[in-house]
Amino acid sequence: MRLLLLSDIHANLEALEACLQAAPEYDEIVNLGDVVGYNASPNEVCSRVRALGGAVVRGNHDRACAGLSDLSEFNLSAAMSARWTQTTLDHEHTEWLRQLPQGPLSKPGLLGVQFVHGSPRGEDEYLLSAPTALLDFDEPPRGDLIFFGHTHLQGGFVYNGGRPNYFAPQFEETKGLIQWRMPLLARERYLINPGSVGQPRDNDWRAAFALYETEIGFPGSVTFYRTPYDVQSAQARVLAANLPERLATRLALGR
Ligand SMILES: [Fe+2]
Repeated sequence: MRLLLLSDIHANLEALEACLQAAPEYDEIVNLGDVVGYNASPNEVCSRVRALGGAVVRGNHDRACAGLSDLSEFNLSAAMSARWTQTTLDHEHTEWLRQLPQGPLSKPGLLGVQFVHGSPRGEDEYLLSAPTALLDFDEPPRGDLIFFGHTHLQGGFVYNGGRPNYFAPQFEETKGLIQWRMPLLARERYLINPGSVGQPRDNDWRAAFALYETEIGFPGSVTFYRTPYDVQSAQARVLAANLPERLATRLALGR
């Protein structure tokens, strides 16, 4: 089983298309949420994501842009883009976003594997520290391999008792399409973020995604990817939509 893991696409069509082009062969996609928000192609990205199929976990921006929660938790530029998205989204996409399931999701045949947006404890939680990770490892139903998004940081936490350890992919190249494969061990537990497709925040502007490969009886591996994309075109759409300039400039900075 090969699962393509996408998260935090955030209405960035150029980044999504680049990831799909760069992706290796896969059986199915699991999307960890925040399909929309921030960037300027919400309808195009919803259409593409829906056509791709697979499982989609709801993100906090999906919830807000679909009108299921208010914008009081959002900073100014996030709130402005959410309001713009609400008025721009086609009705059918709004309805689709409204019915997305909140995590944790699981998949038949993948025992102990969970898919969430923020963390097992909540779709709005930022999983950034070892103490938080420890609480999330303990949260029922206690997954051994938990895929999350929301932080826009590629990497996560490894736990084999004691204190969870943070890790990030050890890419050897800094340019072009790159990948780093991490074998999973049966004695360890993992919280893993494939990174953000459409608004990376780990000082690398390239679009991020991951592939989870597993066979029955083996823990498998996760391969992390970064791919260049047409960032200027994504920025031009943000500016043409009169969204805050910062949402365009941050794309080229990766933060
Ligand atoms: Fe996000």
